[in-house]
Amino acid sequence: ARRDFTIAIDGPAASGKSSTARAVAQELGLGYIDSGSIYRCATLLALRNNIDINESAGDLAALINKAKVDIRVRPSTSRPAPNLGRLAVPEVQVLLDNEDVSKEIRAPEVNQLVAKVASDRSIREAVLHIQRQLAESAESISTNALSKNAEGVPGGVVMDGRDIGTTIFPNAELKIYLDASAMARAIRRWDEMNNQMKEANALQAAKGSSDSDSAPAAYPSVEKIARELEARDYADINREHSPLRIAKDAVVIDNTNLTFEQQVYTITDLARERMGLAPKHGDL
Ligand code: CDP
Ligand code: CDP
Ligand code: CDP
Repeated sequence: ARRDFTIAIDGPAASGKSSTARAVAQELGLGYIDSGSIYRCATLLALRNNIDINESAGDLAALINKAKVDIRVRPSTSRPAPNLGRLAVPEVQVLLDNEDVSKEIRAPEVNQLVAKVASDRSIREAVLHIQRQLAESAESISTNALSKNAEGVPGGVVMDGRDIGTTIFPNAELKIYLDASAMARAIRRWDEMNNQMKEANALQAAKGSSDSDSAPAAYPSVEKIARELEARDYADINREHSPLRIAKDAVVIDNTNLTFEQQVYTITDLARERMGLAPKHGDL
């Protein structure tokens, strides 16, 4: 697919990059690549193969080079989550050697190790190859409703991560740096976990299971999540290779007090302007 317009979205953990990037891609009919999920797949490979990153990063890089990572994006069919306003966010499925690892790569063990894995240079190089391949083959997220929206929009991708605008696509047509206060980010992650737990419980209740042994696991406190996000941000900002930085030509959006719709439409209108198209949403 032709790639004439690239949108890079970077920012700290849980600042809203992934849901925003997906909604932007769906609104404009671009492809979407979640670069964090590739680092998460690399981390899963390390855990499964008992690879000590401090000792054997090269072994892990070799495994990543052999692995096949696939990111499949499907337009959302269900109604949007309450906090997303009218916007539906496409679902993303991550496949590692054809196995669906979408859930497993979000496990606490992966959260704890991923920044360490991502700090190694040989591993970043191996991930870079996958990023490039996926960017070349990414297909536009298309729905029937979209065809009108996407009129005049060139082919392209939205990629989110930490170093997309600084290192991966330094010439991206639009660079966004998304930020939010540490507490807002921790509360959003905590909310997500609680919603997932509620869904799991409802599913179990529907199955009629009364087994008290399968009581849901206790979820971490907001404080614990805040500490985990902070540790990961610290590692991402202070590493030697491709640290998290605001690109010189990035548009900074702090969404602590923005609604999801406001932040998505701000970005889609900025993109439309740079594509030479009329804005769709004006002042929000
Ligand atoms: O979704 P969340 O913000 O929690 O993290 P993610 O985007 O899935 O990224 C997980 C980790 O991968 C980050 O904390 C970074 O250590 C690493 N990463 C990176 O180094 N460079 C990228 N372009 C994307 C992710
Ligand atoms: O990819 P990243 O870790 O940066 O963030 P995410 O996985 O998209 O999670 C951000 C969460 O904050 C999602 O549940 C969003 O619905 C929510 N949110 C947001 O992104 N922006 C707002 N203005 C309000 C809430
Ligand atoms: O060689 P490649 O196909 O990557 O470059 P291109 O066809 O000139 O550009 C394709 C897309 O990648 C465009 O949207 C460029 O802005 C972006 N790109 C970039 O951001 N930084 C680069 N160093 C190369 C391309």
